[in-house]
Amino acid sequence: MPTERYVSIDDCRICGSSSVSEFLDLGMVPAVNNFQDAPDASIEKYPLKVVFCEECNHVQLENTVQREALFQHYTYFSSASDPLLNHFGQYAAEVEQDFLTAGDLVVELGCNDGVLLSQFSDEIQTLGVEPAENVAKTARERHGLDIITELFDADVAMEARERHGEAQALVANNVVGHIDDLHELMHGVDALLDDDGVFVMEVPYLIDLINNAEFDTIYHEHISYFAVRPLSRLLQQHGFTLFNIERLSIHGGSIRAYIQRQDGSRQQRQIVSNLRTLERALGLDELATFERFASDVSRYRSQLRELLKDIEGDASVVGYGAPAKGNVLLNYCDIDANTLDYIVDTTPAKQGTYTPGTDIPVRPPSDFHDDSPEYALLLAWNYKDEILEKEREYRKQDGQFILPQPYVDLV
Ligand code: TYD
Repeated sequence: MPTERYVSIDDCRICGSSSVSEFLDLGMVPAVNNFQDAPDASIEKYPLKVVFCEECNHVQLENTVQREALFQHYTYFSSASDPLLNHFGQYAAEVEQDFLTAGDLVVELGCNDGVLLSQFSDEIQTLGVEPAENVAKTARERHGLDIITELFDADVAMEARERHGEAQALVANNVVGHIDDLHELMHGVDALLDDDGVFVMEVPYLIDLINNAEFDTIYHEHISYFAVRPLSRLLQQHGFTLFNIERLSIHGGSIRAYIQRQDGSRQQRQIVSNLRTLERALGLDELATFERFASDVSRYRSQLRELLKDIEGDASVVGYGAPAKGNVLLNYCDIDANTLDYIVDTTPAKQGTYTPGTDIPVRPPSDFHDDSPEYALLLAWNYKDEILEKEREYRKQDGQFILPQPYVDLV
């Protein structure tokens, strides 16, 4: 195992304290977005361990895997999922209405294939920052967007500012959790944001992760798992503050955090202190809470394996959806092509590939409709409502979905 492909932290990524305690070990897991062209039993795997900072209570991965190892075959296109398209349409409209006027600049960090930026009106200037070359190319070609193909940092922020001036809004959707150096991010925000500008970030919310046992959303790309209290501490260190938060159902439960400079013009909304209080009440400031979560996760693993063992041999089982999180679940629970005949997914780039670490073939949804297997393990559980509705015919014909989350169930 080439250990140089990842580094372990000694200190908390937010407060720098060395009092970080491991509470969850999901084993050796490959880069979960690296779908393979052929089965590969010798795929590289990295430890997937989660630690809790006793000082600022930030929950984060123990290891940082090199970006080059994680993004060899980047197949995640935001616009592949219809529900996400709608989400981003509404989101652009809200940011524009609440914070921007004609001629203003919005910069998106980690803009993926441009699905959010493309939905701002023509009156707003847009700029994307996206390190993955292939998705940035799609953003340019499909929407004519201006994209800087780099990882956002203070230098990129200065480059953006020289090209376009200060930004009145910065948006970062589901990307801040991917950033190893959170202080460099904040230096960049500081360099690019207008004095009274707004930084809007969406991140999965730690309360939802714990309450719904969403352990499969823990993977190497997701380095931080944010709660409001540690996030506020990070912002405060850099002269910023939260003035509003919305809770959203996207990605299994997220927060949209609205941030401004400490001397910004907007009043802080009550929800900010309410969520801080809720986090304490739920014990997010105690290691024991996370240790209990870890034992729940280990129990779910046994239950799912037990169910699949009972079914195996008597009926056919496939996977439904091949999200990155599905690969965490499959690797952690040791479920491979002996159990699942194949997995169906709507993303063309994933079809014809094999799941990393478990070598299960990924096929188009038409295969599922042709074969009508007895069971389908719903790996894309965050789209449960849409998928159960879409596949009502399958269920009418006695097909059953196995739900792995928040607890093992059949519907
Ligand atoms: P997503 O939830 O975006 O997840 P992750 O961040 O864990 O990769 O991925 C959902 C996957 O499910 C994506 O590959 C598309 C697929 N999908 C289907 O195959 N059918 C569907 O009806 C939906 C909604 C998604």
